[in-house]
Amino acid sequence: MHDKLYINGAWRPAADGRMLDVVNPATEQVFHHLASGTPDDVDAAVRAARRAFDQDGWPQRSGAQRAGYLRAIAQGIRAEVDALARLEVLDNGKPLAEAKWDVEDAAGCFEFYAGLAEALDQSGAETLALSDARFESKVVREPLGVAAAIIPWNYPLLMAAWKVAPALAAGCTVVLKPAEATSLTALELAAIAHRAGLPPGVLNVVTGLGAVAGQALADHPQVDKLAFTGSGVVGSRIMAAAARDIKCVSLELGGKSPFLVFEDSDLDQAVEWVMFGIFWNQGEVCSATSRVLVQEKLYPRFLSRLVEETDKIVVGDGLAEGTQLGPLVSRPQYDKVLSAIERARAAGAVVACGGTRPATPTQGYYLRPTVLTDVPLDSDAWREEIFGPVVCVRPFGTEAEAVRLANDTRFGLAAAVMSGDTARAERVAAALRAGIVWINCSQPTFTEAPWGGYKQSGIGRELGRWGLDNYLETKQITRFTDTRPWGWYLQGGD
Ligand code: NAI
Ligand code: MG
Repeated sequence: MHDKLYINGAWRPAADGRMLDVVNPATEQVFHHLASGTPDDVDAAVRAARRAFDQDGWPQRSGAQRAGYLRAIAQGIRAEVDALARLEVLDNGKPLAEAKWDVEDAAGCFEFYAGLAEALDQSGAETLALSDARFESKVVREPLGVAAAIIPWNYPLLMAAWKVAPALAAGCTVVLKPAEATSLTALELAAIAHRAGLPPGVLNVVTGLGAVAGQALADHPQVDKLAFTGSGVVGSRIMAAAARDIKCVSLELGGKSPFLVFEDSDLDQAVEWVMFGIFWNQGEVCSATSRVLVQEKLYPRFLSRLVEETDKIVVGDGLAEGTQLGPLVSRPQYDKVLSAIERARAAGAVVACGGTRPATPTQGYYLRPTVLTDVPLDSDAWREEIFGPVVCVRPFGTEAEAVRLANDTRFGLAAAVMSGDTARAERVAAALRAGIVWINCSQPTFTEAPWGGYKQSGIGRELGRWGLDNYLETKQITRFTDTRPWGWYLQGGD
């Protein structure tokens, strides 16, 4: 396990020597320490990234050359899937099987963007037909510059991959600031990139506190692009920092995504996908479908089945065999989720199951998966992200009512609809104001497809070719081809 900052291809402690505790959420024990990066460290990392971009030729390498590094990083990740997954469990709490899935997805993300880096070489310049035939215009895409990636704790390695892979593919250099609760696999990624021979300064990793290292990175005048995933409150600060220097910004800020279950749905499928939509990864998922709307006729059967199945979920240490729901990531997040449940009760919601910690283990940030009913439409439980294994379920009457309730939110990351009637599912999908709509499922995520939200869920799209666009500038090169004078000041002729 690394404990230093990775800057300009070398490991070094924080400028003031300060360290952060690394806590295992399953046991509440401190098992490691990490450098707590200072603004000086951030400055060193940004300068290294600047040099790698401006002087050392990273953006001038061909897409195929950059793809070679990305594939080597993917191989490095694949060679260590088990070790990386275990580290992720120790840091984040998630069940080992889910962590393995994340790690493999992270490798796949580097492979996918290796392909897009190669395609950049082939795509070349686009020529434009212009309204004035005396001119010729071509359009080229160029790397944007130094990208700062600030990522959350729910998918530590995967969120790093979602930003680092497209940025490097595009020819940008990167300073990555992982979340303070889960920085271990980001440091392993740096080590893997180092072994893959990635030139110094192309990827830098600065661990540390959001308010210190994160803010210094967002504020740094030599950063060209801010890519952020996390809370809306911090997202707004990132955007304010970007506004000062007119930096490019992309934000992925979570939400309160609805899941609409119509009466013609298959009950087993509906119950299982609703569970997957909120209990996978402890519900610490930006796209979690945390507001479930079920058509009246199906509601009683659906609810009793949901509660019955939810109570069977095995809660425990993510490393223990058979665990389906691990502890929440940290003490602050645990307290936040418990207090959200208390406030929901106070507002009149009924706890149909869960709502408390299990009898065992007695240490660790464990919470039984929780189903809330009778949740008032104006309560925080219905309107605000809880970011834990807590789902609100409500009946609805008509399709129009379901769509209205689903869209009545300031968020718009994701939504899901389940129905046996394809025409209805498509009609509802079209009416939902969200960047990702799942039909007859919830959460499956593909590297090829665009990811991001409407409304206050963010700005921009990650993944797929849209993810690459985040790190590219667009340049037009326009040529005057006529041999005669332009004729505004000088008249032609002898
Ligand atoms: P956060 O938004 O504070 O943290 C995300 C990242 O931003 C971390 O790397 C953190 O160090 C950094 N950060 C924090 N303050 C910063 C600042 N002033 N300048 C620059 N960077 C800063 O998320 P937090 O507090 O850990 O979780 C709080 C809530 O945020 C959760 O309960 C959940 O509702 C939401 N969240 C949403 C996520 C998503 O995927 N959209 C992921 C994690 C949390
Ligand atoms: Mg941790």
